[in-house]
Amino acid sequence: MSSKGEIKRLFEPESVAVIGASGTPGKIGYSVVRNLKNGGYEGKVYPINPKADEILGFKSYSGIGKVDGPVDLTVITVPASLTLESVKEAVAKGTKYITIITSGFGEVGDYETEHKIVACANEGGARVLGPNIFGVFSAAGKCNSTFSANNILAGNVAILTQSGALGIAMIGKTAAANIGLSVMASIGNKSDLDEADCLEYVIHDNNTKSILMYVEGIKDGIRFMDTLKRATAVKPVVVLKAGRSERGAMAAASHTGSLAGSDEIFDAVIKQCGAARAETLEEAFNWCNFMANSPPPKKDNFVIVTNGGGIGVMATDACEQYSIPLYDDQDKLKEAFSPMTPAFGSVKNPIDITGGATSKDYNLALEASAVTKEIDGGVMALYCETATFDTENLTPMVRDTYKRHMELGKPIVYALVGGEAVSDSIRTLQKDRIPAFSDVMHAVSSLGTAYNYYNYLAKVNNSVEWAKIDTKAINAIVDAALAEGRSFLLANEGSAAMKAAGVSIPESLVATTPEQASEFAEKMGYPVVMKVVSRDILHKSDAGGVILGIKNKEGVAGAYDTIMKNCKNYNANAVIDGIEVTQMVSSGTEFIVGGRRDPAFGPVVMFGLGGVYVEVIKDVVFRALPINRQEAENMLSSIKSAKFLTGVRGQEPRDTDSIIDAIIKVSTILNECPKITDIEINPIVVYEKGKGLKAVDSRIMIEK
Ligand code: COA
Repeated sequence: MSSKGEIKRLFEPESVAVIGASGTPGKIGYSVVRNLKNGGYEGKVYPINPKADEILGFKSYSGIGKVDGPVDLTVITVPASLTLESVKEAVAKGTKYITIITSGFGEVGDYETEHKIVACANEGGARVLGPNIFGVFSAAGKCNSTFSANNILAGNVAILTQSGALGIAMIGKTAAANIGLSVMASIGNKSDLDEADCLEYVIHDNNTKSILMYVEGIKDGIRFMDTLKRATAVKPVVVLKAGRSERGAMAAASHTGSLAGSDEIFDAVIKQCGAARAETLEEAFNWCNFMANSPPPKKDNFVIVTNGGGIGVMATDACEQYSIPLYDDQDKLKEAFSPMTPAFGSVKNPIDITGGATSKDYNLALEASAVTKEIDGGVMALYCETATFDTENLTPMVRDTYKRHMELGKPIVYALVGGEAVSDSIRTLQKDRIPAFSDVMHAVSSLGTAYNYYNYLAKVNNSVEWAKIDTKAINAIVDAALAEGRSFLLANEGSAAMKAAGVSIPESLVATTPEQASEFAEKMGYPVVMKVVSRDILHKSDAGGVILGIKNKEGVAGAYDTIMKNCKNYNANAVIDGIEVTQMVSSGTEFIVGGRRDPAFGPVVMFGLGGVYVEVIKDVVFRALPINRQEAENMLSSIKSAKFLTGVRGQEPRDTDSIIDAIIKVSTILNECPKITDIEINPIVVYEKGKGLKAVDSRIMIEK
């Protein structure tokens, strides 16, 4: 089978055969040969067609076996019924890569033929891209083996797309927006090669400065993550994924399962790997084009220059959304911008040079932003069409000030808002790949995405951290439960597993009589909590199997009887092993720490706001394993309620170190105990800094 390094031959083949080549315009087999020819391909082209002698000036062969010399890439454009046979012939010829444009396989349920094709290719040492693709283009290989209707404009953005139709549309759209492509590959059914393989080529392709991936679903998430991390280490990646609302097949038995929709996991993985996730095609194009053509922000000081208060406020809001820090040294700002700002304007960031500003004022203000070295992040230049502005100078002003910022290596984006003349100006500027947009959000999000990417690069740390846990003890608990035919651990087993992992839990003992329960409570000290222990009752509270805040001996005896009665009423056949008496933990802030196994990305850990809020607010974040303390720390600061950790309303900051420890311990359990499928510690009560936490309740699901 071809190794990683050889994937280059798929994109930059020295010879291409097209089985199903046709001399009839309009046919896919015609378009592929025409695109190879018109795209300036310099290698050998071998049309294969049983009837033709020549197609578009190339000698045609009745079979691939008749071709003299090696064939690197074979493109298949014969109907589905002839495809397996054609693959066999291509493999016999010794081709290394086969791209199958033909549809009608896995996507319509015919997996059998698809599997046969891949098996045949792989056995013969060939790899398959597709079926059901529109082909592959690479600027480096000058090789356009797609059936696209238009010529592909060469440039520095690579597009890898699972959807062929969208890919074809993207070729047109990028050409219209003057976005040049370095690579375009349609991934299709992913019967053999997938996006990770194509990404491998793009990582090493010198023409590619940024990567856009359109993804619908990932089969091998672990390999995808590994390749994506290596890709973002060298160039920015923007991912557009459809199906935000789609929920994958989830183990709904635990809350972690029901919260972890596949899209949330995907979203987490994308961020964890340093890629940006775009919501729309336009966003994805803007970001990729900007990052491919702009210098990176060096540091953290950004300015907004505007002639309108309203768009200035909009841009400020957008900066907050993209975590763009606005430069705040009032003395420096005054020094730089007061010469061109009227007294009724503002030199506080956003710099408002007011509605009366002319192109000359913009030139002066943007010269100041270019040369002020303290403004070391980037510049957002906003313009609202006004009657006083000399419109004919808008395009030259943007061009000149852009050039100046590029000379000084400082990123700048423009948002130009107005009528027809402004739209014309934007079109003209975009033709020169100047980042001028009609919308403030597009300008700010492009700069913000670049800023976040370079920030990621500066901080990325892929080291791996595991905790020291008693794996043997945990696996023994799991095996004993499995031997009893259970798919979950009982409360006391969960507590024992937590203890073995070193997660701090309240003292707890299981009583089998009211007297014993009272005896335990007397020893522990009040208040205590009592919980039913039964393999037949998973949701203890729903069954009336939990009583909190019991303050004395009499209370314990009464609670014992009440719980027994409630649980028998809830499920008359439930086998009750006893009642757990637990020290009641003092109040703190309630969080949730958990983990599960994702079908695509493997084990993932979760952290969020816990207690009763978790289901309503769903303020939780995920990370795929492995992680380290830095990544766990990122999880803590990523939840919306992160302020609860730093202390709200005079509250002391919480003991974040102990939460990070707990996250690392849960990830270690998932890594070392393969039969544990889901863990949920909720609530995990966290105290002030230095005072630790207590895992009050844990739920653990298991599977052979
Ligand atoms: N070897 C080589 N060529 C052969 C052949 C063989 N064994 N058997 C037939 N051919 C030739 C045909 O004679 C024809 O050439 P001609 O025009 O000179 O007669 C050519 O191969 C194509 O065959 P044809 O039967 O005309 O098929 P088609 O062009 O109508 O359709 C596909 C073929 C692949 C385009 C079609 O089956 C298909 O899958 N379309 C969908 C493609 C798609 O959308 N892909 C996903 C994009 S995102």
